[in-house]
Amino acid sequence: MTSINVLYISIEGNTRSFLKRMQTYANQMNSIDSSNPTINLKEVTAQTIPAHEEEPFFAFVPTYLDGGDGLTSGYTEMMTNPLGEYIADGDNAANLIGVVGSGNKNFNEQYCLTARMYAEAFDAPFVANYELRGTSQDLEVVYGRLKDAAAKFNKE
Ligand SMILES: Cc1cc2nc3c(=O)[nH]c(=O)nc-3n(C[C@H](O)[C@H](O)[C@H](O)COP(=O)(O)O)c2cc1C
Repeated sequence: MTSINVLYISIEGNTRSFLKRMQTYANQMNSIDSSNPTINLKEVTAQTIPAHEEEPFFAFVPTYLDGGDGLTSGYTEMMTNPLGEYIADGDNAANLIGVVGSGNKNFNEQYCLTARMYAEAFDAPFVANYELRGTSQDLEVVYGRLKDAAAKFNKE
């Protein structure tokens, strides 16, 4: 495993910040031990034209749901739809190794719900979650989960 591919969407920059920091961390880990994979990032936006993903990839999905009143959950996805459409296009979902969710725990049961919905819709594992921009510890934990899930995916 030389590198891990990540597709993501980021409306306010938290997911982008987390992933750029994780990319730097992965580079450091790779320079210590070359068996540690580096990370390739691809940001999907509303302007992205769907393309075939040749290689296995992870999706990093922040949560933006409309509705929900604290008692009942809102389920209507907004802002992040271009990423879901990209994965749903052609047979891209077959290359989806797993989904990482981010959100804000103030949303209670709606925390990371979009990523959990993607995992179910695309039949891929929900491999990790973190809040907002994530901590240094989150970077290390999520990177480890990506390595494990990628190794498992390649074996199957
Ligand atoms: C309008 C709005 C709705 C949100 N809805 C949810 C939600 O339902 N569940 C959740 O866990 N986080 C929710 N969040 C928090 C975001 O998912 C979180 O801030 C995330 O880090 C944003 O990532 P980004 O900056 O990469 O776009 C919401 C944030 C906003 C601004």
